[in-house]
Amino acid sequence: MISHFYMPTRVVAGQGSLATIGTLARDLAMSRVLVVSDPVISQQPFHAEALAALEAAEIATARFDDCGIDARCSHIDTEGARVRREGIDGVVCIGGGSVMCTGKGIAIVATNRKPMAECTGVGRFDKRALPMIMVPTTAGSGSEVSQWTIVKDEERHLKLLGGGPLSFPDAAILDPVTLRSLPMRVAALPAVDALTHAVEAYFSAIGSPITDALAIAAVRLQYGSLRASINSDDERAREDNLVASCMANIACGNARLGHGHALSLPLEGHLDLPHPYGVGVLLPHVTAFNLAVLPHKVKPLAEALEVETAGLSRPEMIEACAEAIRSLYRDIGFPLGLHRRAAAGGARARDGAARCAGPLRRHRRSRLRPGHRQRPHRDRLPFGPQDDGRAGRGHLPALPRLRPRRHLNAFSGGTTPWTSRSCITTTCPRSARRSVSPSGSRGWPGARWRRRSGRHDRTLCR
Ligand SMILES: NC(=O)c1ccc[n+]([C@@H]2O[C@H](COP(=O)([O-])OP(=O)(O)OC[C@H]3O[C@@H](n4cnc5c(N)ncnc54)[C@H](O)[C@@H]3O)[C@@H](O)[C@H]2O)c1
Ligand SMILES: [Fe+2]
Repeated sequence: MISHFYMPTRVVAGQGSLATIGTLARDLAMSRVLVVSDPVISQQPFHAEALAALEAAEIATARFDDCGIDARCSHIDTEGARVRREGIDGVVCIGGGSVMCTGKGIAIVATNRKPMAECTGVGRFDKRALPMIMVPTTAGSGSEVSQWTIVKDEERHLKLLGGGPLSFPDAAILDPVTLRSLPMRVAALPAVDALTHAVEAYFSAIGSPITDALAIAAVRLQYGSLRASINSDDERAREDNLVASCMANIACGNARLGHGHALSLPLEGHLDLPHPYGVGVLLPHVTAFNLAVLPHKVKPLAEALEVETAGLSRPEMIEACAEAIRSLYRDIGFPLGLHRRAAAGGARARDGAARCAGPLRRHRRSRLRPGHRQRPHRDRLPFGPQDDGRAGRGHLPALPRLRPRRHLNAFSGGTTPWTSRSCITTTCPRSARRSVSPSGSRGWPGARWRRRSGRHDRTLCR
């Protein structure tokens, strides 16, 4: 089988690496950059440190600090026009996946001179995006090494994916100092998503020895560091966690994803779940399911998950892998299952949203204090933060009757042999009805796959 591997982004990792941002910008011939961030991150000391390093390298800076949860087409279009108007020649993103996807969109729109909505899909623009430097502040999305930007089109209520080889970031700086201010229960969500990226890339039928090596190393590194990274102030563990999430995205960027992401999509839509919730809860099941038909992958994965394999039969090893993931979830406060109340719908679901309100408000308040770190919580995670800071405004819709359909999809291009290139997904009969998610970002009553340009793009509607 012919396999392709492509990853042109320069990765600079380690404690203190943020100080190299000025030199990197000079190497990329940047003279005036747009620094993209959000209202929380722009108050953190490491943000000021990055600006100072750029200034020391005589790089002029303009700022956009208003990113929200998820990249928005409106922000991207406005800032893209500003970049052209002001002769800005580079984009520096300091933030989580939402910030990095916004910055990537701005870099695409600035050179291609068309709205972001027209750049979505695979390779729908033909000019190289502006040079980009990414500084991730969550260990999760891996957007810093990804050609894709995931954007929200607020007008059409769509969440769209855009990109191609012309929009790979030029450099990524992985400095653990950026994770210091990340509240612990917020840190768990992207971390579990990243673990899912690595495990699913490892199961992919279109993976290669290169992606397998990256994926298994990412699982090992992340599994070994996640507890300490989230539950303590271990800087080394945070660094490992950042590097692991980056490796996981490089692996799945080339090998694609599998059942967890494919099956999570309708779940996210029907239950208004934040994405890491859906994929994370599915991961132990998907792992056991896939390992049953990938016998040669059982032992390496078990070892990466720190399972003592001596004397275990293969089925026992598979069960031990699933249990290792569950035990990690228990330790970092990630839920093992979906809330029954949420599935029940109606008033009880509103109860569920209300139960999230307290922790959510506390998180909102605490994250506005620079440098604040919450104590670890071992109970259920709240739904993710909202754009406007209000909690409990959404309610979880009653579950509609699901209509399973076989579908080709972009994520499960490579899965287990017998389900290769296919998966079961569902379409919500109420997909036209709009609802607001407690997360503010994942609230689609329905999820659809649409065919475009002969390919299936991920197109979600709400
Ligand atoms: N391009 C890709 O390949 C790719 C892959 C996965 C996800 N994504 C996208 O990434 C987004 C999710 O990104 P995410 O999980 O990194 O979360 P995020 O960027 O949405 O951030 C979540 C919250 O954490 C806060 N935060 C982030 N870093 C912080 C820090 N160091 N200190 C304090 N607060 C901090 C932010 O202000 C925000 O409120 C989604 O929009 C998703 O679609 C993109
Ligand atoms: Fe994911």
